[in-house]
Amino acid sequence: MTIRAVVKGVGHYLPERMVPNSEFEAIVDTSDEWIRSRSGIERRHFAAEGQGTSDLATRAAKAALADAGLQPDDIDAIILATSTPDLTFPAAATMVQAALGMTRGFAFDVQAVCAGFVYALTNANALILSGQAKRVLVIGAETFSRLMNWNDRSTCVLFGDGAGALVLEATDSPGTSADRGILSTDLNSDGRYRDLLYVNGGVSTGTTGHLVMEGKEVFRHAIEKLAQTAHTALDKAGLTPEDVDWIVPHQANIRIIEGTAKRMQVPMDRVVVTVQDHGNTSAASIPLALSVGRDRGQIKQGDLLVTEAIGGGLAWGSVVIRW
Ligand code: UT7
Repeated sequence: MTIRAVVKGVGHYLPERMVPNSEFEAIVDTSDEWIRSRSGIERRHFAAEGQGTSDLATRAAKAALADAGLQPDDIDAIILATSTPDLTFPAAATMVQAALGMTRGFAFDVQAVCAGFVYALTNANALILSGQAKRVLVIGAETFSRLMNWNDRSTCVLFGDGAGALVLEATDSPGTSADRGILSTDLNSDGRYRDLLYVNGGVSTGTTGHLVMEGKEVFRHAIEKLAQTAHTALDKAGLTPEDVDWIVPHQANIRIIEGTAKRMQVPMDRVVVTVQDHGNTSAASIPLALSVGRDRGQIKQGDLLVTEAIGGGLAWGSVVIRW
């Protein structure tokens, strides 16, 4: 017997305000056609004035707890993947803890930009396997609209705000690849690529800063590294791409999603795609896709899922989960 971190509930939240591509035509020299054809994005959501990442995260967390049939005090730990916390500190996760009315356990943020949810899942899995937590709320939440340079057409049209959450629970299992739960993880980073994708602000500048990206270069790394990390994670679980029911990728660009699926020889009808509706929501994109994919009836209990993501750092990774 072995312990597995099994998904007990999932939920998401998108801010009310939906912004179609056409709105950008009035701000920068762009077109709906360019944005759709180069990225696959048709619309995204932006948080309201005064609505912080912890607020989005709390709403997604409540939905996931309700889905799991659990109360906040049933949870031992909250891990929030975000690069857009409300404040430099405390961790936005502790704000979620307070907003949920959770008076026990511990909460912390994980910052690995677009790969953040894969990093958070890996940390949650480690806490569960080592016996330090029985139930972990894992959230990805972002307000990337706060980091946009509205004069930079190459980035401001790509990102959106949102949140998704999972509840993981320690479950005794036979210890085979047929088990439900997290079956394997693979994390990577290479800090030499810092300048490809970063925010030019922080405590060193005294400003929040704006997102800066060498899109073409990040694209090149994404195509190469995502299939690689997904293969490595599947390998660790003793599985192959043929076993995969759903790739649930980071939703940055439909061309990256299609390129990765092609390299893995998984047809697109086994890929959960939400980029058209959400844009790139960084660490929120995978849990949003998991929740929407479940709601659409795509992801069902027992399905084998592989998630993969890459972002600033560069940081990238993959998690294999049987739903
Ligand atoms: O989530 C974190 C990881 N991030 C990513 O995975 C993003 C990776 N990169 C990408 O998704 C793509 O590189 C982009 C969508 C950002 C850009 O697509 P691209 O096919 O690589 O376009 P490009 O950067 O090579 O730009 C092509 C042309 C350029 O014009 P010239 O130099 O050919 O005259 C750009 O100036 O498109 C121009 N352009 C635009 N035109 C209209 C750039 N942005 C826009 C725009 N509207 N919004």
